[in-house]
Amino acid sequence: MNRVKIAGTGSQVPSGVITNADLEKIVDTSDEWIVQRTGIRERRQVQGEETCSRLSSEAARKAMDQAGVESEDIDLIIVGTVSGDYPFPATACLVQDQIGAHRAGAFDVSAACSGFLYGLSVGWRMVQTGAYKNVLVIGAEVLTKLVDFEDRGSCILFGDGAGAVVLQASEGDDQGEILSASLFADGTQNEVIWIPVGGSRTTHSLESFENREHLIQLDGRAVFKFAVSTMRELIQRGLEENGITADQLKLVVPHQVNLRIIEAACKKLDLREEQVFINIEKYGNTSAASVPIALDEAHRSGLLEPGDLVLLCAFGAGLTWGNAVLRWGNVQGAKS
Ligand SMILES: CC(C)(COP(=O)(O)OP(=O)(O)OC[C@H]1O[C@@H](n2cnc3c(N)ncnc32)[C@H](O)[C@@H]1OP(=O)(O)O)[C@@H](O)C(=O)NCCC(=O)NCCS
Repeated sequence: MNRVKIAGTGSQVPSGVITNADLEKIVDTSDEWIVQRTGIRERRQVQGEETCSRLSSEAARKAMDQAGVESEDIDLIIVGTVSGDYPFPATACLVQDQIGAHRAGAFDVSAACSGFLYGLSVGWRMVQTGAYKNVLVIGAEVLTKLVDFEDRGSCILFGDGAGAVVLQASEGDDQGEILSASLFADGTQNEVIWIPVGGSRTTHSLESFENREHLIQLDGRAVFKFAVSTMRELIQRGLEENGITADQLKLVVPHQVNLRIIEAACKKLDLREEQVFINIEKYGNTSAASVPIALDEAHRSGLLEPGDLVLLCAFGAGLTWGNAVLRWGNVQGAKS
């Protein structure tokens, strides 16, 4: 079995910015409430020609650049998304065309905010077995097209963006290696965050548009409780599975769901502030894109060195949740 490393990271956020002040003009809310309750100051929004696939392709190009791989080298493209360009075909197929990865297989993973972790787990196994050499795993969302801008409880949370990694076999003395990845789900909770209409069970109708059922419905309070305990469990599990303690982790890169959720989960685990990567103030919750964007920013800002232990974790609609523990390797592109 191959050891598998992250060989490159990349991210792309769209050009539009929605500030809390912008939201104050649309719904009954305030900058103070949003910052206090979520930690979010602004989020990004697609403009003009920007789409989920185009953000994905830009993020992928940057990750491939770092990894030193050409389009023709890519064997497989996995995109975690619930807001792809179309219901079908898969956004991964559009990315395959846009980056010219003509040899690659391509498919999407639907696991909402856990989509990148689900994709990473699959990609890891594909390279581990030797079936594929260069696998692109992307998390990408354009949720601003699916949120209800009349619902102050949810529209303040979400933003658009994409993050990507290239997975390759780790060779020689490169320490880079995915050490574990675990996936979980609880389908009994499928209506806590969902879009009720637009699938094959209930198609769009005039009535469903009037009731705004084609947009995200969220029971924020229910998710909040689940989120704090799940994030804590995901970190704890990752540590136990690898026989390591919290102080040995260089960085936790959590799903950027809500600053209060992240802080509450990490406090109970004695993680120091500098061990937890946070960028939610700039992007809000970008769902499947949140972990790979954060990982890319952590890497490019020079926070990670070869040998560092990193834990990734996310949870979301489904409900789904997952984690991964990795040892960082010799990845290009970090600011020295
Ligand atoms: C959504 C979330 C920020 C709400 O924060 P909260 O502290 O739980 O707030 P509550 O829902 O208990 O609402 C408290 C009050 O604020 C009000 N409120 C809700 N949104 C508001 C807003 N944007 N601005 C001002 N007031 C708001 C509520 O109406 C409520 O008022 P009431 O007490 O008069 O009924 C929080 O629950 C959360 O982050 N949940 C998880 C996010 C999530 O589901 N993410 C997607 C899945 S990964």
